[in-house]
Amino acid sequence: MTVRAGVAGQPIAHSLSPLIHGLWIEAAGLDATYDAFGPADEYGFAALIAEGRAGALRGLNVTAPFKEQALALADDVSPMARACGSANLLVFSQGRLSADSTDGFGLMSALTEQAPALTLSGAPVVVLGAGGAARAAVAALKAAGAEVSVLNRTRARAEALAADLDARVAGSGAVRDAALIVNALSAPPDIDIDALRDDAVLMDMTYKPLITPFLAAGRARGLTGVDGLAMLIGQAKPSFEALFGVPVPPVEVRAAVLRRLGEAT
Ligand code: ATR
Repeated sequence: MTVRAGVAGQPIAHSLSPLIHGLWIEAAGLDATYDAFGPADEYGFAALIAEGRAGALRGLNVTAPFKEQALALADDVSPMARACGSANLLVFSQGRLSADSTDGFGLMSALTEQAPALTLSGAPVVVLGAGGAARAAVAALKAAGAEVSVLNRTRARAEALAADLDARVAGSGAVRDAALIVNALSAPPDIDIDALRDDAVLMDMTYKPLITPFLAAGRARGLTGVDGLAMLIGQAKPSFEALFGVPVPPVEVRAAVLRRLGEAT
């Protein structure tokens, strides 16, 4: 029987997940589908989850604005999803719903791939932002042993995040001393690139454009940059394995995704 899975969000038309999972499904020779679902609102999302519970779906990736609701609807929640306060992966099994968050895994695999010289254990790291994306980054970086501080326009949100995840609120000088700066803002960051360490690594969770002004400014100064597309593909890998029960086949998907984005490869 065909295994059905997909990604739910609103809007969802431009999601790259169906392309990524579709290429892996084809390469692995699976009898499976991975579709885009765009529920209009929280009631539509709840109805989709009810269909999944009834057996129509093996599982779902979840994106904005349903990630917090996904966590709330789950019967079983992984420690990482609990730490993030949101879920991007739901798996149905005999009527039960398990929630996980693979965004942090995606961030770590992007760093391993594009900044292999970076050692996180004990390293001072600054995360820009205090939303859901920042929370996933802080949880993963803390788990890797980094000394994480959080910098955000609204200080109270940074304080709440730091308290929840045992991180710090960034003081003055935190950015200057950082071995890694992760941009988890929904707006371009306002950082003085010239003040950074010569060996600082910059990571941007955005991939539109692939080389953001933040990464471009770092690159112009000779700093290593890590892009959001590596993170997107990185979070998809454990999702695929959980949804379809087989390892990700060894095919290159980045070039196909770049073509879809209209970026040169
Ligand atoms: P997500 O779930 O994608 O992380 P979010 O919860 O809306 O999205 O978080 C957006 C982040 O970008 C927040 O850190 C927000 O700062 P505030 O907490 O002060 O709102 C930040 N952000 C959004 N627009 C910004 C702007 N124009 N300048 C600075 N920070 C901004």
